[in-house]
Amino acid sequence: MAEEIRAENLDTAAFIEEKVSEIKQAVGDDLAINALSGGVDSSTVTMLGHKALGKRLYTVFIENGLMRDGEAKRVVDLFAALNVPVKVIDAKADFFEALDGVSDPEAKREAITQAFYKKVFGRIVKESGAKHLLQGTILTDVDETVAGIKRQHNVFAQLGIDPEKTFGYSIIEPLISLRKDGVRKVGQALGLPAELFSRIPFPGPALAARVIGAVTQERIETVRQATAIVESLLKDSGAFQYMAILHEDKVTGMRNMQRDFGQQIEVRCWDSVDARKATPTRLPFETLEKIAGRILDEVPGVVSVTYNIASKPPSTIEAV
Ligand code: XMP
Repeated sequence: MAEEIRAENLDTAAFIEEKVSEIKQAVGDDLAINALSGGVDSSTVTMLGHKALGKRLYTVFIENGLMRDGEAKRVVDLFAALNVPVKVIDAKADFFEALDGVSDPEAKREAITQAFYKKVFGRIVKESGAKHLLQGTILTDVDETVAGIKRQHNVFAQLGIDPEKTFGYSIIEPLISLRKDGVRKVGQALGLPAELFSRIPFPGPALAARVIGAVTQERIETVRQATAIVESLLKDSGAFQYMAILHEDKVTGMRNMQRDFGQQIEVRCWDSVDARKATPTRLPFETLEKIAGRILDEVPGVVSVTYNIASKPPSTIEAV
């Protein structure tokens, strides 16, 4: 397994030089593909790949229907400003089809992994003729997957899966020795704007990791709207990560003096350095009230908002 490079020991210039040369060597004269989600890890890998391969890197944004509000346009515009062209691929139907009828957390993660790597990427790779996929797996993803806690969507070799045999292309993972704090340093050194390198983490399975139970377009839309509210009200909180989660159980509420059997949103906000351990942020009660008020007013069908006060462990950061 990759040797950990701790953020405080990281020489970003030397790291970038080494990874650029490794990518060049691995790809040779071929074409590589890279899936940019707009998160810190994939943004950093995109910049590394761009530096190493220039036009021989084909960067795609997979519109899986599970992303945050306005994400595709935001990411394309941010990278256009860095001279990195990004092609948006509409794969919504593939993902909702794969998730249809799946509610077990690990089964959901597996469905997303298969839709992503086998179906969608299988197709793009075949069409483009690329032989390599560049991706931003980090050490924390590997740790939790190997420990059997959570199957992170992007971990293969450590589970004994050979991507070349299973999917038909090789996977290059330049960030595998780093944790989130190290990735941010590299991203900053590569010239990413603060808006990208200091962005809160977002999981590969996207909003599907924040819907407990069945994932439908309607339920994703509910959590998407709640997420936008939580992110806008907590953006200056200084917290490591914050999110909205849609629960499976409904509860009795009331609206306009009528019974309203409605949905529950759980808000989580975490203090953490590297996501291995995390504690709930001690947010002011006024902030929590503001979040609850806006979610109840603006997100249709929600009658309950709670705040998570459990630490990781035994909790985990995402709910699925
Ligand atoms: P958990 O929920 O396991 O999350 O405490 C730890 C950190 O990893 C993110 N996360 C993921 N990242 N693929 C990823 O690339 C995944 O499948 C995934 N699941 C969780 C999570 O947002 C947190 O920062």
